[in-house]
Amino acid sequence: MAIAVYPGSFDPFTYGHIDIATRAAKMFETVHIVVVHNPAKNPRLSTNQRVELIKEILANKPGNYVVSSLDSGLLVDYCKDLGADALVKGVRTNVDLDYELPMAQVNRDLSGIETIFIPADPTHGFVSSSLVKQVFDLGGDISKYVPSEVVKALSK
Ligand code: PNS
Repeated sequence: MAIAVYPGSFDPFTYGHIDIATRAAKMFETVHIVVVHNPAKNPRLSTNQRVELIKEILANKPGNYVVSSLDSGLLVDYCKDLGADALVKGVRTNVDLDYELPMAQVNRDLSGIETIFIPADPTHGFVSSSLVKQVFDLGGDISKYVPSEVVKALSK
């Protein structure tokens, strides 16, 4: 039974993330979405809020998902405890690849776990959580980029 871990800050979870998660779920029996707590990123939504939102959003999507969070420690140790077969990451541009490649290499070096890169659908190629937050803060319409549950959570 193949298990993938799809980690990220997901602050917030966008249509781009949904696309990667659902495509990963076609290749893996179970996809664990892991919200990684990174206080340095000054998150907009709490870890718990993000976990609950992602659960709600994926509830009606095809695929088998488990949503959890990682507050400390190495991601690869979390993967080992789960018995995960691979990490999954979405890649939009070469900038993403420059950022992701060393992480994939160190994760493999530390644990042997491979990272599978899924190319972003061009529809979501420019959508990032930080842009979504910026557009939202400046009064723009983010409903094309994130599900309504996210718009609601950010509006609170
Ligand atoms: O969505 P992000 O913030 O780009 O995701 C980055 C993330 C959470 C995947 C990365 O920071 C991570 O894997 N953190 C876990 C801590 C860890 O294991 N670090 C060492 C190897 S990268």
